[in-house]
Amino acid sequence: MKTPDIESLVPVPEVWDRMALVESRLIEVTQSSNKFLSGISRHYLTAGGKRFRPLLSQLAAQLGPVQDSRAVDAGVAVELIHVGSLYHDDVIDESDTRRGATSANSNWDNTIAILAGDFVLARASEVAARSLGQEGVILLAQTYAQLCEGQVLELQLAGDLDHGVEDYYRVIEDKTASLIRTAARLGAMASRADEQVMEAVSSWAWELGIAFQLIDDVLDLVADSDSIGKPAGSDVGEGTFTLPVLAALEADAGGELRRLLAEPRPYPSSTVDRVIQATREGGFVDAGIADAEDRIRRAHKALDELPLTDDREVMRGLGTYLLGQIDQARAA
Ligand code: IPE
Ligand code: IPE
Ligand code: MG
Ligand code: MG
Repeated sequence: MKTPDIESLVPVPEVWDRMALVESRLIEVTQSSNKFLSGISRHYLTAGGKRFRPLLSQLAAQLGPVQDSRAVDAGVAVELIHVGSLYHDDVIDESDTRRGATSANSNWDNTIAILAGDFVLARASEVAARSLGQEGVILLAQTYAQLCEGQVLELQLAGDLDHGVEDYYRVIEDKTASLIRTAARLGAMASRADEQVMEAVSSWAWELGIAFQLIDDVLDLVADSDSIGKPAGSDVGEGTFTLPVLAALEADAGGELRRLLAEPRPYPSSTVDRVIQATREGGFVDAGIADAEDRIRRAHKALDELPLTDDREVMRGLGTYLLGQIDQARAA
C-alpha cells in the first residue's frame, strides 16, 4: 500500500494557503544586510524540511474564530526556532548532512553555523515580538529554554549505560515535544480559540511530539541516510541510546552490548553496526514503534475533548503520516 502523503491527509485548502505564506515569510525574514549571512541562513530553509511545526500551527488555527496573518507568523516563528536549533544541533552532533544537503557546519564551518543559527533565532524573536503578543513571546522563550535543557540532558546521558527510559522520555519531551506543543498552542492562540480548546490542542500536540521523536529515533535505526536526508545510525555513535537500544541493553543477557558500549567513544563503526544489528534482530525496534502508537492513541484521546468538526478529524491524519514514515523508510 502506498504511504499517504501529508497533502492528502490534510485536505484543508486554507491550511495550505497559509503554509504558502509561511514559506515566503521564512525567506523574507531571513534577509540580512550581509548577503553571505542571508545565504547561509536560508541554506536549510531552501534545502527542504517537512514544515511539521508550522503545519501544526495552521491546523490548530482552524479551531478558533479568527484566521489571519498571526497564524502564519506563529508558524514562521516556530519553524525558525526549529531551524536555528538544527544549525546548532548539527555542530553538536558533528553531522555532515541535513535535509538532504550538506550541513552548514560541513559546508562552511562550526563558527559560521553557530552564528547563522543565532541569526535565525534572532529573527524568530523579532517575528514573535511583532505579532504574537507578550504571551506568545514568553511561551516561545520558555520553550526554547526547555529545548536547550533537553539537548544538555542528552549530552549528560551520552554513553551512560545505566540510565532508564524515564531519562530518555525526559530528553525527548524537552528537546522535541515542547516545541511541537508550542507550535500548536500558538496557532490556537492566534485564532483566538477558547481556553479549553487551547488545552486540548496542546495535549494533542504534546503526545504527537513524543511520538514524533520516538519515530525519528526508530528511523535512525531502520532508514538509510538518503531517505531521511541526514546521517542514519548516528544516535548510537553519539552515545545516545534511544528507546529500542535501551530495550536491547536491558535484554543483553551475555553482556555483549554493554561491553562494547563501555569502551571509550568515539565507538568504532563495528560497535555501532553490531548494536544496531542486535537491536533490530532482537525485535526491539518494535518497542519504539509500539510506544509511538500508544502516544498517537493518547493524542487522539485529547482530540476527543474538542467539538466534532472536519478539522478535528483531519488532525488525526498527522498520526498516520508519522507512522507512515517508517513504512516508507522500510520500503526504500
Ligand atoms: C528534526 O526535526 C529534529 C527532530 C526533532 C527529530 P524534523 O524531523 O522536523 O526535521 P525537518 O524539519 O523535517 O528537517
Ligand atoms: C534534533 O535532535 C535537534 C532538536 C530536537 C533540538 P537530534 O539530534 O535527535 O535530531 P536529528 O536526528 O539530528 O535531526
Ligand atoms: Mg542531530
Ligand atoms: Mg542532537
